[in-house]
Amino acid sequence: MDILISGLSKTYDNRDRIIFQDMNAVFETGRVSVILGKSGKGKSSLLNLIAGIDVPDSGSISIGGTRVTDLDDTGRTLFRRRHIGFVFQSFNLIPVLTVMENVTLIGHLDGKASGPVRDRALSLLASVGLADRQEDFPDRLSGGEQQRVALARALINDPDIILADEPTGNLDSRTGKNILELLTTQARSLGKTLIMVTHSDDALGYADSVFTVRDHLLVPGRG
Ligand SMILES: Nc1ncnc2c1ncn2[C@@H]1O[C@H](COP(=O)(O)OP(=O)(O)OP(=O)(O)O)[C@@H](O)[C@H]1O
Ligand SMILES: [Mg+2]
Repeated sequence: MDILISGLSKTYDNRDRIIFQDMNAVFETGRVSVILGKSGKGKSSLLNLIAGIDVPDSGSISIGGTRVTDLDDTGRTLFRRRHIGFVFQSFNLIPVLTVMENVTLIGHLDGKASGPVRDRALSLLASVGLADRQEDFPDRLSGGEQQRVALARALINDPDIILADEPTGNLDSRTGKNILELLTTQARSLGKTLIMVTHSDDALGYADSVFTVRDHLLVPGRG
């Protein structure tokens, strides 16, 4: 699914803090787009807007032909659950659920049979190297392990769009490369739309397109 952003404006703090102003962008299906930009410029905010976790002041975001900015809260939540996988910068695992429960939760919410959801969770946990940690609670895991659980969770519903906020920020280079392979294969082989916020040169090496958040816009290249 392509993502089309048109005339997007977003402020915080009663419009005192401008994040985006009349910003336009396109993220294409099957491509790996990397977003750069200094701390506090709005990278995570942009992912939140695309995911419909937050709403713009004005402008529109269309995903696969659906204007998600026209949907109400419930509509955005359902759209997100079905189509979007989000790897949060701070993981956002649910502390009272085990690794397996964290990964499968959204699959169950989507009404799928529990057997296939569990099988997919096991296979995803294996692919991030955590097959043996499924019964642990998040507080027993290292930061990098939590980050990998967050990635497995993001992929549980086979999302069309994958938003990954610094997905290798807590990983050593070798583990990071495995994760980058897993993520970019989603775009290249499975036709997903991947948007990755990162500062890692390893991750940049996988990019089809590079953008930078600067001057309240998303500009092409490493600006
Ligand atoms: N819900 C909110 N309410 C008020 N201000 C917010 C909110 N979310 C983000 N901001 C502000 O918007 C700006 C952009 O934040 P954002 O998290 O998008 O930055 P970022 O580019 O992801 O930074 P980093 O690289 O440090 O993760 C920051 O100044 C932040 O304080
Ligand atoms: Mg951020």
